[in-house]
Amino acid sequence: MTRYARIEIAPSILAADFSNLGAEIRKVEKGGAEVLHVDVMDGRFVPNISIGIPVVACLRKATRTPLDTHLMIVEPEKFIAEFIKAGSNRVLIHQEATAHLDRALTMIREHGAEAGVVINPATPVATLSEVLDKVDTVLVMSVNPGFGGQKFIPGALEKIRQLDQWRSRYNGSFRIEVDGGVDLGNAVSLAQAGVNTFVAGTSIFGATDPAAATRQMRKLASEALSTKV
Ligand code: DX5
Ligand code: ZN
Repeated sequence: MTRYARIEIAPSILAADFSNLGAEIRKVEKGGAEVLHVDVMDGRFVPNISIGIPVVACLRKATRTPLDTHLMIVEPEKFIAEFIKAGSNRVLIHQEATAHLDRALTMIREHGAEAGVVINPATPVATLSEVLDKVDTVLVMSVNPGFGGQKFIPGALEKIRQLDQWRSRYNGSFRIEVDGGVDLGNAVSLAQAGVNTFVAGTSIFGATDPAAATRQMRKLASEALSTKV
């Protein structure tokens, strides 16, 4: 059993009603959401624009639940300090978005947050070999980032298995997170492959009862984890 063997559900507020974020957050907190996933897009790293530092600061005032800030921006090192100051507990940056991954990850920890690295669907796990001992989380994208509501790309499962094997072999202590097209239909195989943190936007905020959807996803994933060999 690794240190991060437990399951966390991280609803992605990208799929929530932005005019009513406080109430939306309460719904998933009622379902026990351990983390809130916050998607930041710059229109350059990804072909879309979402939210930024002021929204993180408002969320921080509205909740004590840890904020998992997914930076889909080029040169994330320029904004790491500001996002942490605004209240991000975890900052996740893309391997593809900086020429100085090691430095940027170190910077996140130095500013007092947990550091996460993210890989796009076309990026192999092997590109992370030099930083796996410097991160708290590895996030495997199971869609091409930029939009909610896309279809899960099955190749992510094999990448998750590779990370899980690496973690067992070297006694690694990072969490494995997955993001994109995650729902009740694939949560079991994802947990069996080694996922700890499940990011889900549409399948939670798009559900009639987001609290129940959060609970149900945790239940399925936890049961799958308990039978994992
Ligand atoms: C996509 C974002 C995701 C997104 C997931 O670029 O990183 O976090 O909100 O949304 P669903 O769960 O709808 O695929
Ligand atoms: Zn995300």
